Amino acid sequence: MKRINLGRPLVQLQTVDSTNQYAARYMRQGPVTEGTVILAEHQTSGRGQGGSQWVSEKGSNLLFSIILKPDFLPAYKQFYLSMSIATGIHHYISGLGIHAVIKWPNDLFIQGKKVAGILIENTILAKYLNTSVIGIGLNVNQRIFPDDIPGPTSLSIETGATFDLSESLKELLICLKSPLNNLYQGKFALIRSSYLNLLWLLNTPSVFTDRTGTFKGRIVDVADTGELLVVTNQGEIRSYGFKEVTFQEEV
Ligand code: BTN
Repeated sequence: MKRINLGRPLVQLQTVDSTNQYAARYMRQGPVTEGTVILAEHQTSGRGQGGSQWVSEKGSNLLFSIILKPDFLPAYKQFYLSMSIATGIHHYISGLGIHAVIKWPNDLFIQGKKVAGILIENTILAKYLNTSVIGIGLNVNQRIFPDDIPGPTSLSIETGATFDLSESLKELLICLKSPLNNLYQGKFALIRSSYLNLLWLLNTPSVFTDRTGTFKGRIVDVADTGELLVVTNQGEIRSYGFKEVTFQEEV
C-alpha cells in the first residue's frame, strides 16, 4: 500500500499568482514527486472556492498547495479528499488547544470565525482521479483583516502567540499525513466518521436558507459525493451542493 511523504520536495516562493496555479504549471513541466508542496509568502491572485478570492497579508500566514496523484480514488468519491484534509487541519488546530469545527463543506471555523479554507482542484482520467492540487490557506499570524473578508480569525488572534511559519507547516503536514494515509488505505468509513464528528451543527436544530426561502431543520449527513443532507422539521430530506444553502444555529 502506497504511503505518502508530504513536503519533499518543498518549493518555497516569495510571490506567486496562486500556489494552486503554480502547481498546475509545475506538473505540466515534467514528472512530479507525489507529496510535493508549493509554499508562498504572498499570492497576487489567491483563489478561494466558487470563484472567490483568497486575500492574505504577506508573510503572515500559510499559503500552500500539495500535489497528489490519488489514481485509486474514483472521481465520484473525490469529496473524501476534502474530508481527509479538513480533518487533518482540524487535528493541527486542536493540538494547539483551540476548539475548532469543520463547517461544511471544508472550512475550519473557531467560534464562528473562519481560520482556514481549502481549494482542491483535480484532474480526472477514466473515472479515477489523476492529479490533485490541494490548496490550503491557514490564517496564522495575521491580526488585522480587511473589512470585506467576512468573519476571519487567525491562530495568533485565538492564542495571543506568534507562530514560526515553517514550524507550523511542518506540524500541519504531519497532521495531514495520517488522514491521507487512511484515504490511501481505503479507510473510507473512518474518514467519513471522523469528518462527521467534527462537523458544525450536525444534528443540531438550525435555520437554513435556500433558493425557496428560509426553513428550520437539521443537518443529518453528508453524502459520499459531498452534498449536505438536511431534514426539515416537516420530515422532508433535502440535499444541497456547494453555495446552494446557508445555515446557522437556531437560537
Ligand atoms: C476557500 O475557503 O475559499 C478556499 C481558500 C483556499 C486558499 C488557498 S491559499 C493556497 C492555495 N492557493 C490558492 O490560490 N488558493 C489556495
